[in-house]
Amino acid sequence: ALAVTACSKKEEAPAAGAAGEAREYIVGSDAAYAPFEFQNDKNEVVGFSVEVLSAVAEKGGFKVRFLNTPWEGIFATLDQGDRDIISSSVTITDQRKQSMDFSEPYFEARQLIAVGKGVGDVKSFQDLKNKKVSVQTGTTGDEVVQKLLGKTSPNIKRFESMPLALKELESGGVQASVGDNGVVINYVKNNPGSGIVTVEDAQTFAPEFYGFAVKKGNTELLEKINKGLAAIKADGTYDQIYKKYFGN
Ligand code: ARG
Repeated sequence: ALAVTACSKKEEAPAAGAAGEAREYIVGSDAAYAPFEFQNDKNEVVGFSVEVLSAVAEKGGFKVRFLNTPWEGIFATLDQGDRDIISSSVTITDQRKQSMDFSEPYFEARQLIAVGKGVGDVKSFQDLKNKKVSVQTGTTGDEVVQKLLGKTSPNIKRFESMPLALKELESGGVQASVGDNGVVINYVKNNPGSGIVTVEDAQTFAPEFYGFAVKKGNTELLEKINKGLAAIKADGTYDQIYKKYFGN
């Protein structure tokens, strides 16, 4: 079996044509997105998406090396050839599909509203109409808030990472934040003094599906990923990882 770890050291290049040598792909992740992708105290990129893709790689017959990569500009690294795969809780959207290719989905998410201390009644997304809202720039959270408040609204405060957007909420600079449910829930859980409460709005927010992104046209890699993903879904590996992070 191939040894696949989240942060395997770069090994010596295999002899050209060496039989059975697995190719190593470079993976970009904005590792400020617990529990999906974040850095542990050894600065290794770890988390749910990391474990899923590492297991996919093992089944798909390739290796992966994760590099922390800022969200802003993360997709451009595919075309530049700096990254082979983006594993960053990326929602598969029609717009993104025009400029990159996606694997089959590996996780279902939804936007979640986070409301600050003492803000008062927020029951639905509509109630944010006259509020200041923080988001991570260029995310699907940013997109939904733009639809409500207008793209250029001064009431949208954009941050380069989701933790920064939520810190702004915690310190009272905005009244609400909107982001992926898993990350918002994780933040609230780990910051018990934050006073932040969450509000679901399943009427407004559609399910979103995370996929691994590759450079447009890289069907060879995409097929390997999809094959590995199908294998770990079939043999229980995926469920095991899911349980570890999200309970049953
Ligand atoms: N799912 C959202 C999107 O695709 C947010 C992803 C942000 N990921 C991250 N690692 N910061 O827009």
